[in-house]
Amino acid sequence: MPDNLDDFLKDLQDKINKDTVKDYGQKAFDIWTNPSNMRSMENPDGYGRITGPCGDTMEIFLKFEKDTVKKASFQTDGCGPSMICGSLAAELAFGKTTDELKEITNKTILETIGGLPKGDQHCALLAANTLQEAVKNYIKVQNLEGTKNGERKMY
Ligand code: FES
Repeated sequence: MPDNLDDFLKDLQDKINKDTVKDYGQKAFDIWTNPSNMRSMENPDGYGRITGPCGDTMEIFLKFEKDTVKKASFQTDGCGPSMICGSLAAELAFGKTTDELKEITNKTILETIGGLPKGDQHCALLAANTLQEAVKNYIKVQNLEGTKNGERKMY
C-alpha cells in the first residue's frame, strides 16, 4: 500500500484503466478517454436525438456536401460505452452518402469496436438509431427544399 494519497490515487487509477482495457479493449479505452467527435454543431443538415430505454440521451449532428457527410459529431449524457459508440457512429458516418449511411447499424458499430460486454451492447443500438434519425432528418429536409424549389428529390 503506497504511503501517500497521491500515490494511492495513481495506483487506483492505473488499476481502473487496466481493468477497463481488459474488459473493453484498447481501442474502446482510447476513444473513451479522448472522444474526438464529441461536440455540438451549429446548423447541422441532419440532426437526430433519441433517449433510450435506459434514460440516456444521444444527439448526432451531420453536415453534408454534395450528399456526402463532411462533418459528423455527437453528444450524450450517457455512460462510457455510449460515448464510445456515439464517437464511432460519427466516425463511421464521415465520407458516406445517404445510401451508405443507411447500412450503419448497431452491429457495424460493435464490429468496429471489436465487441462490447453484453450489458453494454444496447449503447451501440442507441448510437445507430440516433444516426439513422439524423439521416432521416436530412432526407426529409432535402425533400422539403426540393418541393419548395419546384423539384422533388426522391431518396
Ligand atoms: Fe444508456 Fe449506455 S447505459 S446508453
